[in-house]
Amino acid sequence: MTEKLEDIAAAMVAPGKGILAADESSGTIKKRFDKIALASTEDSRRDYREMLFRSTEAMKSYVSGVILYDETIRQKAKDGTTLVDILRAAGSIPGIKVDTGAKPLAGPTSTIETITEGLDGLRERLTEYYELGARFAKWRAVITIADGLPTWNCVKANAHALARYAALCQEARIVPIVEPEVLMDGEHAKHDIDECYRVTEWTLRTVFRELYDARVSLEGMVLKPNMVIAGQRAPKQASAAEVAEKTLKCLKATVPSSVPGIAFLSGGQSDEAATEHLSLMNAAGGLPWALTFSYGRALQAAALTAWGGKPENVAAGQRAFTHRARMNGLAALGKWEAKLEKAA
Ligand code: 13P
Repeated sequence: MTEKLEDIAAAMVAPGKGILAADESSGTIKKRFDKIALASTEDSRRDYREMLFRSTEAMKSYVSGVILYDETIRQKAKDGTTLVDILRAAGSIPGIKVDTGAKPLAGPTSTIETITEGLDGLRERLTEYYELGARFAKWRAVITIADGLPTWNCVKANAHALARYAALCQEARIVPIVEPEVLMDGEHAKHDIDECYRVTEWTLRTVFRELYDARVSLEGMVLKPNMVIAGQRAPKQASAAEVAEKTLKCLKATVPSSVPGIAFLSGGQSDEAATEHLSLMNAAGGLPWALTFSYGRALQAAALTAWGGKPENVAAGQRAFTHRARMNGLAALGKWEAKLEKAA
């Protein structure tokens, strides 16, 4: 495997491929397993992820890289092979979540706003993760839209942490996925698509200014943003065409063309909406960067349900996962069509 940051970043966003986010923290994966009434144990988490990573067709054809959690990057499959080796054998790049979570941001908005932690000791952790096989990393900052929010303090502090993280990654020869997520959930009635546009533009501008100050090489990173979309509970929802149009407008206004690729998070969109939006944007064409997926829920939800925690359902889980991976691979080329969902 090549070791130059630019080459790794280019491979992460190769045509028709995207990233599987499988880096759910122990708390988050428990919530996902609760839905299928499965106890979250080291073994059940391993079995679930082993099922996904052994979906050979999906991994080889559509998944350029996988974001792992600290536990997972150290885990072995039932037969003793490390999960990292399973990914490598399928030609998929192992990545690692390195932030330690979004914590209340001290101050007057601490019941809502968060700052992502994990910078202390990060240099040493990155060295270890590199040795364990990670060639890219992820850090997720969370920005919440609410009445009068976000504050500049929250946007600025999170952008600054992202830049410090990204600089440490590049020093360690690891490609940083820079993820500033403007959440689509929340109760705010005025959280329509235009409010999301305003906050996303503000956030991305701030992030790129901080990346510049920290001398982060834009050629050696991948941006993982939210799409510009109405809040989940906003009375006025936007059409798929409007989401695609406003997301592209916002990204073109804020993301330098030296960034090789943008890999969206799904953020609570339905599986098909996340796929359709991505496909519409790629079909529009003329983009200065590769545009693909780095989905967690929108790639895994169907597979998790089909598997249901039962060994006899591994093949069904893998079929469901492979289908979503293929649909999103097509979307990364702008070639997804609704009728392909029905055919499957
Ligand atoms: P979702 O696609 O479920 O939003 O997860 C992606 C991710 O990695 C969030 O940090």
